[in-house]
Amino acid sequence: MGESEKIAKLGAGGISVDLPVMEGSVGPKVIDIRKLYGATDMFTYDPGFTSTASCESKITYIDGDEGVLLYRGYPIEELARHSDFEEVCYLLLYGELPNKTDREKFVRGITYHTMVHEQLREFFRGFRRDAHPMAIMCGVVGALSAFYHDSTDINDPHQRMVATHRLVAKMPTIAAMAYKYSTGQPFVYPRNDLSYAENFLHMMFAVPAEHYKIDPIMSRAMDRIFTLHADHEQNASTSTVRLAGSSGANPFACIAAGIACLWGPAHGGANEAVLLMLQEIGSKDRVAEYVKKAKNKDDNFRLMGFGHRVYKNYDPRAKVMQETCHEVLAALGKQDDPLLELAVELERIALEDDYFVEKKLYPNVDFYSGIILRAMGFPTSMFTVLFAVARTVGWVAQWNEMIEDPMQKIGRPRQLYTGAVRRSYVAMDKRN
Ligand code: SDX
Repeated sequence: MGESEKIAKLGAGGISVDLPVMEGSVGPKVIDIRKLYGATDMFTYDPGFTSTASCESKITYIDGDEGVLLYRGYPIEELARHSDFEEVCYLLLYGELPNKTDREKFVRGITYHTMVHEQLREFFRGFRRDAHPMAIMCGVVGALSAFYHDSTDINDPHQRMVATHRLVAKMPTIAAMAYKYSTGQPFVYPRNDLSYAENFLHMMFAVPAEHYKIDPIMSRAMDRIFTLHADHEQNASTSTVRLAGSSGANPFACIAAGIACLWGPAHGGANEAVLLMLQEIGSKDRVAEYVKKAKNKDDNFRLMGFGHRVYKNYDPRAKVMQETCHEVLAALGKQDDPLLELAVELERIALEDDYFVEKKLYPNVDFYSGIILRAMGFPTSMFTVLFAVARTVGWVAQWNEMIEDPMQKIGRPRQLYTGAVRRSYVAMDKRN
């Protein structure tokens, strides 16, 4: 960076202030405004943080214009094709691909934390059988704080490592328990001889009455879906985890906060919303009607699974998800799934429509995932739960990075106040 590029000059209210410009290894530079309020008595204003970098991070990089997603520098397409979720977890947490010994040690550490405290099973009895599984995840994951006191001291690196392993390991177990509870089937214990994805499918779909046969195509697809959802820079739920963690809250409480944020249909809840939308559209001849609704400013309907705050190009995860969708449906003999045909037609029409082209609205990670998950036998209500299972490693990686950042302090944004200015109390008999 040239000398002149290292300073941003801001003139405001008759005051001129020089602000340092910082450069990362790749991507947009940032203007360091930490001294702005002190120098100008003014705040910046950026609802939704469309132009704000909240932190420095080395974990995930996204180039929204080019449709690029890198986990610790490795392209998501290569990881989805050549790696597996256990290895991606190690990469996100520790920054490098593991050698054989490190991988075996890490996988063993995760595998031997997959069981939950037996008394945690009692929590489920407090929920109605028809409770949304995301409500159960919020409650039960938050309750882990009450069971694992020996890994809640955020200032102890060993306790942070234990909490990290416990969260990555136990999320699939709790997720599968939430599903089993809704069906009235017995909980299925984890098995140490299975991979992360195989173990999850086993806990989800095995029953004591018969041997459950792992379908390698299904477990490979599950593994790839976990990898695609593992991390994504400073998205809403990751920012929630960081903000909760900045106050010193324990890791289980922070991840419960992330789960709550992910649940929203504008975020992780979109995969469930996409499937409900496709079922509502019902047939190809109604696609144009819904595309028209999505373009109507007076209609709050949006094409779920389309658009993204960062990607102004095709979400690279959506491309891999689409390939996986065709593979899984063909393997299941469901290649003629009417919902897939509908989704492909909806994508074709939207990508040819000026509104979507001008606003750079492309399919995102959620557009095809629901079709695969439904074909694999997951109920719609479990789609966002699977997203939370996969994203837990990203959340804890970002949480650890925030805790270890020497510049870390409690997150406390300010505001533009437009409410009533100071006024005196009015007694009841003096009011209108
Ligand atoms: C995820 O941040 C992440 O990284 C998230 C995520 C992750 O991995 O963590 O990638 C996961 O959450 C993916 C996104 C899933 N959400 C959906 O699919 C819901 C549908 N999409 C939208 O609601 C929307 O696109 C967002 C929320 C994803 C992004 O919203 P922004 O960036 O705030 O954009 P915006 O709402 O300001 O929209 C810009 C314009 C608006 O029109 P104008 O007011 O400029 O005229 O585009 C329009 C919007 O009305 N628009 C859409 C649309 N998305 C945006 N119009 C129709 N259908 C849509 N889906």
